[in-house]
Amino acid sequence: MRLPLIAGNWKMNTTVDEGVSLVTRMRPLLDKINGVEKLVCPPFVSLVAVRDTLAGSTVKTGAQNMYFEEKGAYTGEISPLMLAGLCEYAIIGHSERRQYFQEAGEMINRKVKAALKAGLKPILCVGERLEENEAGKTAEVVTGHLKSALVDIKSPDGLVIAYEPVWAIGTGKAATGKQSNETIGLIRETAGKLIDKATARDMRILYGGSVTAENIAEFVSQPEIDGGLVGGASLKADQFVAIVQKTKEVKGRI
Ligand code: 13P
Repeated sequence: MRLPLIAGNWKMNTTVDEGVSLVTRMRPLLDKINGVEKLVCPPFVSLVAVRDTLAGSTVKTGAQNMYFEEKGAYTGEISPLMLAGLCEYAIIGHSERRQYFQEAGEMINRKVKAALKAGLKPILCVGERLEENEAGKTAEVVTGHLKSALVDIKSPDGLVIAYEPVWAIGTGKAATGKQSNETIGLIRETAGKLIDKATARDMRILYGGSVTAENIAEFVSQPEIDGGLVGGASLKADQFVAIVQKTKEVKGRI
């Protein structure tokens, strides 16, 4: 059984005070919902304050990115060792990092390895752009992302994959549950070949892209989809709580 996971990616939103206020409002409501793993990924500067606000809560924290080196002269970067102990997860290879910060194959692979080495659980993002989708290249792009990101990854404890079609991110135009289930099935099959079958069978794979409280049930009711990576709707306490609640109703374990 795979425990459903709903992760909020706050992206470059919220000051420290706003982040603390957001989790202060969500915490009591989220703590009442069991059977779903709950995660928030605030900006780096808010991680400590958000973690402290969530002390004793079932809501976990993650980073939105990290560098692969452990320390040294890398001005402005954040090391996996700085995150280990502070949070449990790190989003890696998000399409916005690929698009605006030129992250690609080898760098993403090094980040996944560095996160695992530091004991962080990577949430590896893969997904096709609109023109790739329209050219019928979804399978090719997604398997390509996996092949390069998972080079030499043998026992990826806690690795999560998020399928985020780029055309669905922040557009209000979500994919359908059926389409995403097919692609996520392919992702699981590919991960099975690249790592091993048992790991792929037990690994959580999320859908991301314009997830809302209204459409989450369409995704988590699919057999291959284990939860959501939520952007915009994770910044609204009532929406995020409702997404977690719906996930529990559809898929939650008691
Ligand atoms: P939206 O939910 O705002 O479309 O963002 C999805 C996303 O990129 C999560 O990582």
